[in-house]
Amino acid sequence: MEYPHLFEPIIIGNTMFKNRIFAAPTGHPDATIEGNFAEDVAPYYEQKAKGGAAAVTLGEAIVDSKYGKRHMFQLSLDCRHSVHSLAKVADAIRRHGAVASIELQHSGMNATPGLDTPGVCEGSKIIYGPSPCIHNGNEIQEMPEEIIYEVIEKFAAAAKRVQELGFGMVTVHAGHAWLLNEFMSPIINRRTDQWGGSVENRARLTVEVCDAIHKSCGRGFPVEVRFSATEAIPGGYTIEDGVAFAKQLVGHADIIHCSVGCGIGLEEGYRTFPNTHPSMFKEDGVNVKYAAEVKKHITNTPIATVGALDDPAMMEEILASGQADIVEIARGLICDPELPNKAREGRSEDIIKCMRCMTCFSTLKNRGSFWCALNPLTNRERAFARLPEKAAPKKVLVVGGGVAGMQAALTAAAEGHKVILCEKTGRLGGHIRCEENVPFKKHLAEYIAQQERRIASAAIDVRLNTEVTPEYARSVKADAIVAALGARAFKPNIPGIDGGNVCCADDAYINPDIVGKSAVILGGGLVGMELAIYLNSLGKKAEVVEMAPAFNPGLNFLHGDCVTTKLREEGIPTHFSTKAEKIDEHGVLCSTPDGERYFAADTVIYAVGQKALTAETIALHDCATYFYPVGDCVQPRTISDANMEARTAALDIGR
Ligand SMILES: Cc1cc2nc3c(=O)[nH]c(=O)nc-3n(C[C@H](O)[C@H](O)[C@H](O)COP(=O)(O)O)c2cc1C
Repeated sequence: MEYPHLFEPIIIGNTMFKNRIFAAPTGHPDATIEGNFAEDVAPYYEQKAKGGAAAVTLGEAIVDSKYGKRHMFQLSLDCRHSVHSLAKVADAIRRHGAVASIELQHSGMNATPGLDTPGVCEGSKIIYGPSPCIHNGNEIQEMPEEIIYEVIEKFAAAAKRVQELGFGMVTVHAGHAWLLNEFMSPIINRRTDQWGGSVENRARLTVEVCDAIHKSCGRGFPVEVRFSATEAIPGGYTIEDGVAFAKQLVGHADIIHCSVGCGIGLEEGYRTFPNTHPSMFKEDGVNVKYAAEVKKHITNTPIATVGALDDPAMMEEILASGQADIVEIARGLICDPELPNKAREGRSEDIIKCMRCMTCFSTLKNRGSFWCALNPLTNRERAFARLPEKAAPKKVLVVGGGVAGMQAALTAAAEGHKVILCEKTGRLGGHIRCEENVPFKKHLAEYIAQQERRIASAAIDVRLNTEVTPEYARSVKADAIVAALGARAFKPNIPGIDGGNVCCADDAYINPDIVGKSAVILGGGLVGMELAIYLNSLGKKAEVVEMAPAFNPGLNFLHGDCVTTKLREEGIPTHFSTKAEKIDEHGVLCSTPDGERYFAADTVIYAVGQKALTAETIALHDCATYFYPVGDCVQPRTISDANMEARTAALDIGR
């Protein structure tokens, strides 16, 4: 076996886990306000169990609806009628041999005041934390001791309830600024009673929660505690304190799960999200060092690590070198739930690695379900389940070999169609190929290479350097055309734009040598901001000017947080409400609310969006009976949408 440590079973409490890969908690908001999951939720978690994870953890479920709820689509575990859909999810996980776990959470001072749970209770207008303060504009009161004891009982009752519903483990959330973390945090907890002060006192609530759960569910019932091994914020506790907290948990928690980050007491503009959910700008396995430090001091309780993990070789090494006992993966399994099985079968090169673009979490927040940029099946398991009737085989011409075209060609070929894939350049990959040498986009480059390999081994007739005109398309005599022609960089109409010192973002990505020592980037969307980070990493001085009053990351606002954080860390200047008026050979003249300002730079780069190749696409509309325009050629869009549309179009052919 290639990864003996990764696939070594482990016994925790009275339960055997078949390997060391656990699916870390991912909250699912696709629920009614009464707290029942939609039907799509069980297949999402089931896929991770089927893919080989030893345990699959559901995200934050609230133990105390009155005082502990953050948003209305969180499950309320303190009401029987609001949790019955959980049994189906547990069943979907268990039947594939994985242990179903669920995260028990109380939001503490991050609870939303007055948030009612229909049929359960009215939300409290009073918000409790360890000590009084103002937080998020809310007045926080010190949690009285009788409520602390109620909270402990609520955790125990919730654990008992989910145990009865088929869950084989619980994960107590004591990190990421929720209630139990708040008690641990020196920034927030200023109590002088037995719940504050020393590390022992600040850990007491978590310890008592573990003990109460064991009392209600049995000593053998595994209780995992997820905590922040370091808060990683100014004034927060450090890894040394994290080790001290972990020592307190020994004998009470059955797994000590070391996450990172806390989002409380932050100075203006500081974001903790890139710590709790390591951004693409951080290295793979960025949190392992914290778990390793905890493990050095603890021998008798398994230690789990989490964060930016999806390479089996790296995970094997983490376990083999004794830095942790368990690896937990969230986004890596959203992107490829088959990861464990592929590693076990010696097919690691087929694993689709998460590029940490945050599409999943951003869509979770603003669309109520979450989707993956690279894996169109995630959370569409039912929609894309194998369709009952076989497609009538057709001749399919896919025009354009970018993300959408490759996805369409692969899906159509797998459906049994005869597929011809034409790409006008000499390589597959399309527009995003320009970023293939950018270190923080390496997983995107790997994905493109994988798609190329899949296409090479599928029965697809690939025609490179082939521009598809209507005449060419007609000559192919295809039944269906999937038009995935893409878009081209939009060139703004600014005097001087055709100067020798001006280029578009794509060209700067492809060949950064054409950019001088300093650059002004016109356009503060994601492309421009990321380009500034890239050029800065190459030792060039980059700054961004944007005519809008603020950075607009589009729907992917959480990646926006990561980009903003990185720009701040690197000291890269960004100028908003600043409009380029005229470019000359020394830089660009801009208008700002304070008057004109000249930005001197060797190179001016425009990154002001893409223009769909609509005319070229429309020209193909009558060249086959069926016509499916997908991706950027309809309107520039995300990789996630391009992948989803292309897969859907390919499945529609012949049905
Ligand atoms: C879509 C999504 C939902 C998440 N929901 C939760 C949650 O409910 N509770 C929690 O503790 N962490 C949650 N997380 C954080 C993950 O458990 C994990 O700690 C984090 O994503 C870092 O691990 P990764 O790099 O493997 O993704 C979520 C992450 C994602 C991407």
